[in-house]
Amino acid sequence: MLPAPSADALAHSQRVIAHLAALIDDAGGWIPFSRFMEAALYAPSLGYYAAGAMKFGAAGDFVTAPELTPLFSRTLAHAIAPVLAETDGDVLELGAGSGKLAADLLGELERIGTLPSRYCILEVSADLRQRQQETLARERPHLAERVQWLETLPTHYSGVILGNEVLDALPVELVHWTATEPLERGVALEGEAFVWRERSITDPTLHARAGTLNLAPGYISEINLAAAGLIASLAQCLARGLILMIDYGFGESEYYHPQRHMGTLRAHYRHHALDDPFYLPGLCDLTAHVDFSAVTRAGEAAGLTLAGYASQASFLLNSGLTELLMDVSPADAAAYLPQANAVQRLVSPAEMGELFKAIALTKGAVTPLAGFSRGDRRHSL
Ligand SMILES: C[S@@+](CC[C@H](N)C(=O)[O-])C[C@H]1O[C@@H](n2cnc3c(N)ncnc32)[C@H](O)[C@@H]1O
Repeated sequence: MLPAPSADALAHSQRVIAHLAALIDDAGGWIPFSRFMEAALYAPSLGYYAAGAMKFGAAGDFVTAPELTPLFSRTLAHAIAPVLAETDGDVLELGAGSGKLAADLLGELERIGTLPSRYCILEVSADLRQRQQETLARERPHLAERVQWLETLPTHYSGVILGNEVLDALPVELVHWTATEPLERGVALEGEAFVWRERSITDPTLHARAGTLNLAPGYISEINLAAAGLIASLAQCLARGLILMIDYGFGESEYYHPQRHMGTLRAHYRHHALDDPFYLPGLCDLTAHVDFSAVTRAGEAAGLTLAGYASQASFLLNSGLTELLMDVSPADAAAYLPQANAVQRLVSPAEMGELFKAIALTKGAVTPLAGFSRGDRRHSL
């Protein structure tokens, strides 16, 4: 049984529905699913990420690794420190959520003497940007002058670009492979209800990609053109350094496996994963898993080198997660047990350890990353 939304939340969802319905009307009765997802998540003051919903943590809809334990972001600090030292570069974080990752990462970089002179954040949601500013002002006031919020990607950037659970939050195209041709799934209105309607694919890039995948009739899945576009843009702005993305997903053969014939698109509402992306628009997160083969192809086409791909468990353990946990004394049960529990969630194959992956794309000579020293699975992409 799903928790009932409050009257205010329901009224908000009604406003989001009205906005989505107007988009469909204005477009002549049909919009691609990516347009629906983009508006449901990011329409200013309305979308899930743009309108003040709680989102992260126990009181929200889902928990991300930086919210589980500071050890995640502290481990990332150790993973990227050699690249910061080598490039004398900065950090650029995409989609910084509550700002927790930035605060904990900066704290650890300071502790190990590798503070970058600038920590930049690129965030599409004005609401979250404000939350990030509050978190950093509260948790790292003495580092505040190093943190900058960017409106656009920088040019000629050196250092580390990172994003945790950003690629899965990008709007995806939906495709239904049929006996005759792949069709694009979009959204129309029937009375007041959103319904699926399919059309021939007009976008040449989507058409080519759907054709290459050539899936069995009846197969429905996502193609994330925005992720490929974002990686290409990041490659362009990076002069030298590392792009590190952590997210849930797989390589192409697993992503488009015959058993996954209904795709990976899900709505997340108060810690429940739902198949219906039309459920309470504006109150649910919408996500799709990441196709890391497509991410790699986009990066390589834009001049990046695939420097590592591993499960989150391998990446964090190689980067020193256990050593950081050992700094907390097991004798202090109140401090140790919650941290040990969180570490277990990060690395257990039954939880986040195996489904989540870390991928590293580099430009220019960058030292091999310890995070991929064991368990590198580049060959599987
Ligand atoms: C699932 S949340 C993850 C937040 C945070 N990284 C964490 O791990 O808790 C996705 C984040 O990506 C942001 N986002 C989505 N698209 C983006 C884009 N194109 N550029 C930058 N940020 C984006 C969202 O606003 C949100 O902050």
